[in-house]
Formats: sequence, C-alpha cells, structure tokens
Amino acid sequence: MNDLVAAATEARGRAFAPYSKFRVGAALLAEDGTVFTGCNVESASYGLTICAERVALVKGISEGRTRFTAVAVVADTERLTPPCGACRQLLWEFAPDATVTLANLAGQTAHYAMRELLPHGFDAGSLG
Ligand code: THU
Repeated sequence: MNDLVAAATEARGRAFAPYSKFRVGAALLAEDGTVFTGCNVESASYGLTICAERVALVKGISEGRTRFTAVAVVADTERLTPPCGACRQLLWEFAPDATVTLANLAGQTAHYAMRELLPHGFDAGSLG
C-alpha cells in the first residue's frame, strides 16, 4: 500500500493543472502486480479535464489489464481527496473489490472499500 501511495505521489508531480492548481496523483495495482499511475490533465476548455484516477485506469486498460485490486489517490489537502463521481463509476467497473487509499503529502491516509464509495453501482451485470 505504501508503494502505491509513493507511486501516486510521484505521478502527482506530473499533474497538468494550470487552471485549478489542484494537483492529484493516482496509482492502480493490476491483478498481475503491475502498477499504473496517472495525474490530472486539465484542458483550457475546462470540461475536457481528466482526473488522475481515470488517466491511470485507461493507461492500464490500454496495456491489457482490466482488473485492479488497489487504488491510491494523493493530493495536498488536509481533508483527504476522494475520487469524484465519474471516477467512482469507472473504478467500480474495473476495480470493484479494490481497497482505495487516500493520502496527503503530510502522510495521512484513509482506506475505503470501493463498494463503500459506490454502493449499488451500475455495471455490466446491470445490463441484464
Ligand atoms: N481531480 C482529480 O484528478 N481527481 C479527483 O479525485 C478529484 C479531482 C482533479 C480534476 C481537476 O483537474 C482538479 O482535480 C480540480 O477538480
């Protein structure tokens, strides 16, 4: 878990967040042990901004991993930064059993089960 937080912290250093100045890093552990990292990437059009979590996720999926067992999200906030609603949806589809670790630069952490963050999530099984 510490390794994943360290990887997310490093990725946060690459955040492209000139508009919000809110820098986020994420790291995902794939079932085979590979770690994928992401940072938030903002657009001048604002709405096209993509969160760190989704960057890490699509990097992993594009490299052939579709199951993840742990997630770390790092920001420099006293109140730990949780994944936004859009990220929770996508994480639910690819990491339903994951532990999500939130951390800040002061070393504070909190752990949640993905199903706690998105109860009754919509997924492939919901399509019938
Ligand atoms: N952001 C993330 O990257 N992940 C989160 O969990 C929350 C929000 C980004 C999006 C945007 O670039 C900035 O933080 C402010 O919302």
